[in-house]
Amino acid sequence: MARIVGALTCSHVPAIGSAIAKGLQQDPYWKPFFDGFVPVREWLARVRPEVAVIVYNDHGLNFFLDKMPTFALGAASDYGNADEGWGIPTVPAFRGDPALSWHLIEALVRDEFDLTTCQEMVVDHAFTLPMALCWPDQQWPVRTVPVCVNTVQVPLPSAARCYRLGEAIGRAIAAWPGDERVVVLGSGGLSHQLDGERAGFINREFDQQFMSSLVQDPTWATRFGTTELVELAGTQGVELLNWLVARGTLPKAVRQIHANYHIPISNTASGLMLLEPIG
Ligand code: DHB
Ligand code: FE
Repeated sequence: MARIVGALTCSHVPAIGSAIAKGLQQDPYWKPFFDGFVPVREWLARVRPEVAVIVYNDHGLNFFLDKMPTFALGAASDYGNADEGWGIPTVPAFRGDPALSWHLIEALVRDEFDLTTCQEMVVDHAFTLPMALCWPDQQWPVRTVPVCVNTVQVPLPSAARCYRLGEAIGRAIAAWPGDERVVVLGSGGLSHQLDGERAGFINREFDQQFMSSLVQDPTWATRFGTTELVELAGTQGVELLNWLVARGTLPKAVRQIHANYHIPISNTASGLMLLEPIG
């Protein structure tokens, strides 16, 4: 039986890719952000996961507004990155794990999550940045399974539905006959809004309550509708739905290994959490 060794959730601002390309990790603006990942990398070196299930939202690289699946799962043998228009260097392709992907797809559809299955898929900054922060040498020691959630175009899946998707992914991984160590990455948030009258909106109090809820009371955020979550966290802050999927893969009882919260990175409140299952 495969085992989820932990869930790691973090923000995914494209400017991070530009800072990596320019080697700005020690720059005063960036240092409090990049330093947050030092304990994460120590943990990864100790736990050595073999597979990463990455829960993220695509921003128009693979899916566009004309065809927007609520939930999509990659089943390719590799996933490329591509220029999203900023000229940030692309990163080496990621190895997939088609057998595990199909196992997850079959288990999730059986569990009544009607997914879009993708045998070809390019992955954007929401996938590549958490990977590059975890493994800065970009040698990617893990096979990957992309789980893509629509946090972009209404109607969005509810927080409760996202949490239940995570629970179903957790059950499906536990039922996989392999003995892999699996890390689940949740990418996005925390509060930010990039456009409209509230551009620049950040809600520290909500973010911090949300982060502590993931340890103490993981379904706390499921009381909010998606419009309420947009009000509380911003139009793009609703990417926190990806954190809820990742959290749902773990049992109720978790241990917080590490957390960091830093405002701002670009227009975003940057959050980072590493949780391990207890028992
Ligand atoms: C920013 C944040 C995002 O989540 C994103 O996808 C793009 C840009 C930002 O703060 O600049
Ligand atoms: Fe985003």
